[in-house]
Amino acid sequence: MSIWSGDGLKTCFSFVVLAFFLTFVFVAGVLQEVKKNRAFDQKIDFPDFGHYNGNFIKNMPHSVLPIGDQRKRIIAIGDIHGMNSSLTDLLDEIHYNPKRDSLIHVGDLETRATIHDSIDVLSFMSSNKILGVRGNNDQKVIEWRAWMNWILSHPGGREWLSVMDKRWPNLDGDKRLQRTELENWVETSKYASWKKMVPTGWHPLGKHYRVARAMSPRHFEYLSSLPLVLHSPTAHVVFVHAGLLSSHPKLQASDPRQPLSHWPTVHDQHDIAKLRKQQELTVLTEIPENKDPWTVTNIKSVMDTGIVSPSPKKGTPWSQLWNDTMSKCSGNSGTNAGKSYQPTSLPCYPFTVIYGHAAGRGLDIKRWSIGLDTGCSYGRQLSAVVLDGSSFSSATHQFGDNIHAQAPQSQEIVFGDNGQARIVSVSCA
Ligand SMILES: *[C@@H]1O[C@H](CO)[C@@H](O)[C@H](O)[C@H]1NC(C)=O
Ligand SMILES: *[C@@H]1O[C@H](CO)[C@@H](O)[C@H](O)[C@H]1NC(C)=O
Repeated sequence: MSIWSGDGLKTCFSFVVLAFFLTFVFVAGVLQEVKKNRAFDQKIDFPDFGHYNGNFIKNMPHSVLPIGDQRKRIIAIGDIHGMNSSLTDLLDEIHYNPKRDSLIHVGDLETRATIHDSIDVLSFMSSNKILGVRGNNDQKVIEWRAWMNWILSHPGGREWLSVMDKRWPNLDGDKRLQRTELENWVETSKYASWKKMVPTGWHPLGKHYRVARAMSPRHFEYLSSLPLVLHSPTAHVVFVHAGLLSSHPKLQASDPRQPLSHWPTVHDQHDIAKLRKQQELTVLTEIPENKDPWTVTNIKSVMDTGIVSPSPKKGTPWSQLWNDTMSKCSGNSGTNAGKSYQPTSLPCYPFTVIYGHAAGRGLDIKRWSIGLDTGCSYGRQLSAVVLDGSSFSSATHQFGDNIHAQAPQSQEIVFGDNGQARIVSVSCA
């Protein structure tokens, strides 16, 4: 008898129904289990720890500019890395007066001195609402803190973090040897399942982790509020932690896609202030690298291939490329929109970048860029550039005598269109 006869077909059908039913029960059960353990699923959907919040670029408040009031100053400070007593020394040396002066830092406030010192710097910066930009170290601290807040929102997360803190009070998770110890423990302890909650490549209990854990919600809020780029279109200056590009690295300088190869279209071609502002913004927002958080907080060089590098040994320092481009800007002589330019000149006005990050290059003063990381955390120096009315061409008076011109570690430099500025450094013991 063939199974395709009446009874056989029925039996077969019943089996199929049963099989479907069992499969359904099994799948539903598994799904339920997966749901329960979703926090520990292999592919964890991490929230955004970066906290860029769309405040990539901020405008420097006009009120801080030393224009119109001869006593006003801007004091821009290089990478502090938690060296709070050196910060105090530097501010003393400059006769910092919070009523009259505006401080701006170029990022990397913490993590090379003790945790406690890093917190002191964060307290000073946040309670005085000091202007500044995010450094690569600030970014790591922000990310760890955002991660912690996320872990704490999971049942059991608080316990896991405090067990780790207590078990490893002196472990440095940044150091490979000690890290192995921690990883072995995590794998064998009852917290093994939490391991998946740590994004690949992140190592708990390092310096950034510890600063993130020790800082207050207000410190976190302060760091998260820092933009990556601080720009003053009035003063023609931009602050950034590591660097910026003045042109697309893979295109010719005269290529029409280069922001500085043509005047922007503004209604009134004779409104120089508007032209300059527009052109500066185009450089900051239309060169893809300048909109990449990692690049602006880590770049040191540009390789021959046009790819940016965090290494000082590869390719050309970005600041040299910046200085080269800005030096070609022909300024006033080129406001005629129809004019064609020599390859040696560009229809633009130059502007200045003030930055940190490159301790290896030390104080790096070029005509259109000022590198302020003088390696304080390595026992070298902490440096600042002081701008006052004389730094901006719209002012006519001489440089204020409120800084000792004779200070041993002070030097005057040419700044901006036609101004001057002073570099002041203190030793970091
Ligand atoms: C850290 O430095 C700032 C700036 O000089 C200072 O006001 C503050 O008192 C210092 N904090 C500590 C705890 O020394
Ligand atoms: C930067 O550009 C200026 C011209 O604007 C040039 O004189 C100088 O040699 C360049 N390099 C440095 C390191 O300043």
